[in-house]
Amino acid sequence: MPSLLVGSVKSVIGHRCEVLLRPDLQSMHLTHDGVLYSVGQLGSYVCIPTAFDRIVGVVTETRLLDVVNPSTGGEAFVADKKLLRLALVGTIAGGRFERGVRAFPLVNDDVYLATAEDRDAIFGGLRSKACVEFGRSSEMESYRVPVDIDKLFSKPVAVVGTTGAGKSYTVASVIHQVLALPEPRIIIIDLHGEYTTCFGDSAMVLSRESGLEIPYWLFNYQELQDLCIDRNEREAPNQAIIFKNEVMNAKKQAATAEGLQLEDCLSIDSPVYFDFGSVYGAIDSINRQMIEGSSGRQRQGDFFGQFNRFLVRLESRLSDYRYGFIFKPERFNSSASLKTLMEELFGRGPQRKKITVVDLSGVPSDVIQSVVALLCRVAFDFTFWKLGYAQSPLLLICEEAHNYAAKNMNSESRRMIERIAKEGRKYGIGLMVVSQRPAEVSETILSQCNNFIVMRLSNPVDQEYVRALVTDQYQDLMDILPALRRGEALFLGDATVMPLRVLVDAIPDDAKVPRSRDVSFYEGWQTVSPAAVDDIIERWRRQRKKAAGNQADPAAAT
Ligand SMILES: Nc1ncnc2c1ncn2[C@@H]1O[C@H](COP(=O)(O)OP(=O)(O)O)[C@@H](O)[C@H]1O
Ligand SMILES: [Mg+2]
Repeated sequence: MPSLLVGSVKSVIGHRCEVLLRPDLQSMHLTHDGVLYSVGQLGSYVCIPTAFDRIVGVVTETRLLDVVNPSTGGEAFVADKKLLRLALVGTIAGGRFERGVRAFPLVNDDVYLATAEDRDAIFGGLRSKACVEFGRSSEMESYRVPVDIDKLFSKPVAVVGTTGAGKSYTVASVIHQVLALPEPRIIIIDLHGEYTTCFGDSAMVLSRESGLEIPYWLFNYQELQDLCIDRNEREAPNQAIIFKNEVMNAKKQAATAEGLQLEDCLSIDSPVYFDFGSVYGAIDSINRQMIEGSSGRQRQGDFFGQFNRFLVRLESRLSDYRYGFIFKPERFNSSASLKTLMEELFGRGPQRKKITVVDLSGVPSDVIQSVVALLCRVAFDFTFWKLGYAQSPLLLICEEAHNYAAKNMNSESRRMIERIAKEGRKYGIGLMVVSQRPAEVSETILSQCNNFIVMRLSNPVDQEYVRALVTDQYQDLMDILPALRRGEALFLGDATVMPLRVLVDAIPDDAKVPRSRDVSFYEGWQTVSPAAVDDIIERWRRQRKKAAGNQADPAAAT
């Protein structure tokens, strides 16, 4: 009897199959050619030879068979027979592996552990020059898993998992591999400033500290309106009309002053500078306007007092330091400055950076959605107008996407990311959404995803949500989601040869790891904090991580 034979097919239902193990296989171990194999390891591979090819199955369940003994009145007892449940994932024909099963196995067909040649056929097939490797198979640690980046990025990809499961680390690992290419283009929307140091010289980091400015004049009208008008106010419709007129007037004036020659095509959404102060002034005077009544007496204008709250809100935004990067740009205050801004965002400046990390950690939470909407739209527009979409495609990575692309959010950011998910591919924009709450992220986005990197998920609602995304035959694999280790991911989609459990490699250089390390209470409580209270207060007041004396942020050192 060939010694890799483990049993025979007992039943076949759809893409699932049950295998009765050989009765002499007591210990669930086999020795073949001096190598010890364990039988029935979840996720291990078996083959079922048919007349033409070999069907490949993945073990999804191992159990002892319940047998009913009629002599004991039908009481079930566990017999000494063992069952494996398989997901039939593909076929090896002519030495090559392909997904899907052409002819299904029949009852009593022999089932073997996969041989070394089988594994070579399964895992060797995908290797191409478009592949990167950043992890190894959990079942077979010697096997480095090739991931086809064309397939991974050509449609949206989602990285999901409980906080601390290793999502950001995995994203960084992927990027480190991609950085080996001569000219990748990546933008990361980094809510917590985790990626500011880990890509070294390859990255342009735009943070509040390094002069991140998202000038108000780059917002389109809808986004500006979201920033400045409170929809719940009774006067909101009137405010919107007047605000729109005044912005348009201000744009016309500024465009003429700068000699842009856009008279015939200037629109409210054109990326053209305008002076916010003049819009404020014009609205302020409309708000106080008195007109002559029919009797010749002065009476209040049509919009008198309608902008009271609008002006207060705008005033407080304009004077608030935290919003300065939007409303008081220092570097980008002319239409001509758009070139530098785009160069910085898209790595096209003289330094030609491969990655742009937009660190939004210092940005007030109430404008995060507007800022993200703007960044996504600009990425979309810039790539659209670049033409030649196939050249230098852009990958947009949205970290913690549930914060600005949640399904119940009525926000431009959600709509923009949905648009990129749906149409980005046509224009050469890839999207990677990262979230700890997949069940909260817009379904429109996730349903466009072709690949999922699923890390440990402990929340049952999220587990169910992810389970519903995968096809029937892989359902059993989903049971391992809560048991995945830190840094271990289930790869679902066509970028890997088949659904695989992958152990993401440790990044050898500590400086290249995203700065999201868990706090060690034990270590942290050994000594007193290096930051003096004065410094903390100073940073807090200035809303800057660097204190006035340019003292480094102690967190940056860790
Ligand atoms: N593959 C891995 N190898 C080694 N350490 C890892 C790995 N993945 C994650 N970690 C560590 O686990 C912690 C949490 O990872 P992180 O990527 O921040 O999780 P998440 O983004 O899911 O919240 C970090 O300290 C990180 O360095
Ligand atoms: Mg993270």
